[in-house]
Amino acid sequence: MENIVTQIYDLNKCDAAAAIQSAAAVIKSGGIVAFPTETVYGLGADAFNEAAVRKIFAAKGRPSDNPLIVHIADISMINSLTQGVSETARRIIAEFMPGPFTAVLKKSPSVPDCVTAGLDTVAVRFPANKTAQAFIKAAGTPIAAPSANLSGKPSPTEAKHVIADLAGRVDAIIAAGSSEVGVESTVVDLTGDVPIILRPGGVTLEMLQAVAANAAVDEHVLTSVSPDETPRSPGMKYKHYAPNADVTVIEGAQGAVFRRISALIAENSGVRTGVLRMYPENEYNADVILDAGTNGRDYAHRLFTLLRTFDEFGVEKVFAEFCDIDGYGLAVKNRLYKSAGNKVERV
Ligand code: TXA
Ligand code: MG
Repeated sequence: MENIVTQIYDLNKCDAAAAIQSAAAVIKSGGIVAFPTETVYGLGADAFNEAAVRKIFAAKGRPSDNPLIVHIADISMINSLTQGVSETARRIIAEFMPGPFTAVLKKSPSVPDCVTAGLDTVAVRFPANKTAQAFIKAAGTPIAAPSANLSGKPSPTEAKHVIADLAGRVDAIIAAGSSEVGVESTVVDLTGDVPIILRPGGVTLEMLQAVAANAAVDEHVLTSVSPDETPRSPGMKYKHYAPNADVTVIEGAQGAVFRRISALIAENSGVRTGVLRMYPENEYNADVILDAGTNGRDYAHRLFTLLRTFDEFGVEKVFAEFCDIDGYGLAVKNRLYKSAGNKVERV
């Protein structure tokens, strides 16, 4: 792909309102712009402009059969994108939007096939982040946006990650603070009678079940998809969130995890090792130790940043401590397992 000039709007260093207007003008003229949301940064284009949407796939190196989420700044924008939305779906949407939540709904024919990868459904998200809302409003159109990373890399939770991956490949980047949640939105299929979580995130199964008691989690959230299967969400079949380092998850209680990781570090004496630590009392003889936090919310907030930090330190093998935790735990587990290519040892 040829190198293009990327305009960077750093909201901490310029007139934020004017910068958002300029970035929105880039969208209106068919360009692609990275912008902050409360989950991760997104890379957006006018959802109704096919040529602009194609630029997103090229910039990320994203497979064209992986559909994009369409971002809105007002619940009523759902009407131009969807059809036949059930009463239950509307109730769930009213509960969780705006927020880290994406609804998969039956698509309106006006949504281009390149956005939905030819599916008859469309994923819709209304971010809570104020900059994202102002940007979408100023663009005056729904914005199709995947996470603003190169395909396969950890999603960007800070502007510097977006700049590292996409400078020279996109028209503009709106740089703001770090993403609060740190993992992507919960994607829920609301097209049938049972709401199904296709990707866990900040809206947990428990929260969803409080509104729809029959809500469930798709089987592929924690397992890999075999080549002959067609998952409900195309994104489930791709390698994801992988740093350059090779990641292994060691899951269990503190003492057992400590013994196993210590043994692994000893076995890998010629290798630059790192530990993503959940139990702060565990002291290892590794080259780099980074603390993920002791609860799901912190782990989610830090995970992608820390995976990139291991790369900055040239770590070759990462051992990630993990144990089952409530709330954000499923979202963390899903991302962690994928970053490890499902190399998980339970001890
Ligand atoms: O938090 C987020 O959701 C971020 C921010 C930028 O909003 N976006 C994001 O987009 O994570 P992306 O493209 O990285 O992930 C979208 C996921 C993919 O796994 C994709 O396969 C799935 O949503 N998806 C999109 N449209 C779908 C559809 N119609 N049916 C099923 N899955 C869909
Ligand atoms: Mg992504």
